[in-house]
Amino acid sequence: MANTPINRRAFLTTTTAVAAGALVLPGVTGWTRGSSPPPPDGPATQTGSFDFVHLTDMHVTTNRKGDEGYRTCVQSVLGLKNRPAFALMGGDLAFDGLHTPKAQYAEQVRLYQEISDGLGMPYYHCMGNHDVLGWHSGRKVGVNDPDFGKKCIMDALQWERPYYSFDHRGWHFTVLDCIYPTHEDHGPGYEARIGDEQLEWLAYDLGSAGERPKVVVTHIAAFCNTAQIKGDPEAPGMPPGVVLRDTAKLQAVLERHGVKAVLQGHTHRPEEYRWHGVNYLTSPAVSGSWWAGDFYGAGPGYTVFHCGADGELTWDMRYYAWEAQLEPDDNRERERNAEAQAKRDEQARLLTLERAGR
Ligand SMILES: [Fe+2]
Repeated sequence: MANTPINRRAFLTTTTAVAAGALVLPGVTGWTRGSSPPPPDGPATQTGSFDFVHLTDMHVTTNRKGDEGYRTCVQSVLGLKNRPAFALMGGDLAFDGLHTPKAQYAEQVRLYQEISDGLGMPYYHCMGNHDVLGWHSGRKVGVNDPDFGKKCIMDALQWERPYYSFDHRGWHFTVLDCIYPTHEDHGPGYEARIGDEQLEWLAYDLGSAGERPKVVVTHIAAFCNTAQIKGDPEAPGMPPGVVLRDTAKLQAVLERHGVKAVLQGHTHRPEEYRWHGVNYLTSPAVSGSWWAGDFYGAGPGYTVFHCGADGELTWDMRYYAWEAQLEPDDNRERERNAEAQAKRDEQARLLTLERAGR
């Protein structure tokens, strides 16, 4: 169990036993397949060190051979010296449900699952904005489609609740859903928000974990910095769609409960911040720049975490070798990659010059 107390919010997460044919556990409703599920009761009391990985923004697609790229990532994880106990998937699992016809999107989700199964370990989904079918003006599906919204991917993955928690060897993990529904002029849309109801659930979920070390996952960041990365003094600090609208409320809950780290995705820009004792970490995107190469100088990658028996959390952002397989009409991406290479070359030239002295 997730060891959530029975209260009016928490009971919602603990409702499900193993549904017919569904590989889910009570309170672990985002778990899919893998070789073996975590034991349902033991982890809360069992302690010991272990590793896990955070894989985010894999955007699985056959375009640019992204499916082969993701298989390469899985092989990289399997090649780690210490086998991870499980994988936390950070969202944007399939390439895109916002602008893609349903059948094509469903195939991307199927591929995500097939390739992720190759990890041979439990893996836990987090909802990304691209995982929602049709919540965008560019939708390729009718708003009355029976699989509209989050239903399509959740049904396909037997994913029962978009936010949930679980324990492993004395550590507590909470996966949030920050894709908050809105009503736009064009129809259903979303904004980056946790929302008051989920925040209340989170507060009690973390409270139920007591002194256990805690890790939280969200797709869109609670803390990141776009303006400084871009070096643009006019850029807003919290652009809509990039940072959670209700990040201040979330940060207060996280700080109150001493959360060790928040694992983030979405921007495809690896970042690390520590504020009031909480680490806000954006992992490299598994897909880099949607399988077109590096993004802001960061190649395809992921993060390996080590949970110590003493409650200490350490991590290492890893990059795996994958050369972009561009499509014939990817001219903009070719130009962008050439510019990035020119920048790297110039950096190398200046470094050589400056080390040689005047
Ligand atoms: Fe993404």
